[in-house]
Amino acid sequence: MVLGSGLGEFADQLKNRVEIPYSAIPHFPRSTIEGHVGQLVIGSSSGVSVAAMQGRFHYYEGYAMEQVTFPIRVFGLLGIKSLVLTNATGGINLKFKPGALMLMTDHINFMGVNPLRGANNEDFGPRFPDMSEVYSKRLLSLARREAKRLRISLEEGVYVAVGGPSFETPAEIRAFRSLGGDAVGMSTVPEALVARHMGLEVLGISMISNAAAGVLNQPLDHREVLAMGRRVGGTLTRLLQSLVPKLA
Ligand code: HPA
Repeated sequence: MVLGSGLGEFADQLKNRVEIPYSAIPHFPRSTIEGHVGQLVIGSSSGVSVAAMQGRFHYYEGYAMEQVTFPIRVFGLLGIKSLVLTNATGGINLKFKPGALMLMTDHINFMGVNPLRGANNEDFGPRFPDMSEVYSKRLLSLARREAKRLRISLEEGVYVAVGGPSFETPAEIRAFRSLGGDAVGMSTVPEALVARHMGLEVLGISMISNAAAGVLNQPLDHREVLAMGRRVGGTLTRLLQSLVPKLA
């Protein structure tokens, strides 16, 4: 599980927790962003073993794509079967209210880079991996079912990944909307691509932390993203808790 900006709470309630700072894990970079704790938490939830990253590595921090996605390779080699990726996003879809949770049904990679570029390691997966179902239909229906049971309302949509670190311009957001994007963020897609390369099942959950640039007549601020994480984090945690035993 990768817990995004302000969304680290799930890891705090794991049973028999072991917390490992990224600085203590060979070849792991360190999180440099406020709101990202920067540790791997391993424990159990409803009897299922979970490895949860409190904070991830972003391309905009200056890391190579190999570094950004290194933890996913490690998780794959540890033998995980399902990967849950969470993130904070700006809402492009005008129907989405800040604070909403959105299941990622697909993505558009506007980062201009692909983590699978370079020599392919056949032990991980094929040179040209299929991406027609990045976000598992099986996990999507599990998530819908659990959300319904918990009376948590969920949006669904297409995540547009940008490199950042600048927020988008209003013209970029209009362009993304006309291309079919529903939410925009600066992460997740590299991890999802590497996970699919290794054949892992992926679920993506976005928190809409703010209306994307130009939607409201106000500037965007990272503090807004963190504040929304604190408000919505509990709901996401409940959803993840009820999902975990079903994933296994
Ligand atoms: N744009 C890009 N990334 C984001 C945003 C946004 O508006 N909000 C949170 N992450």
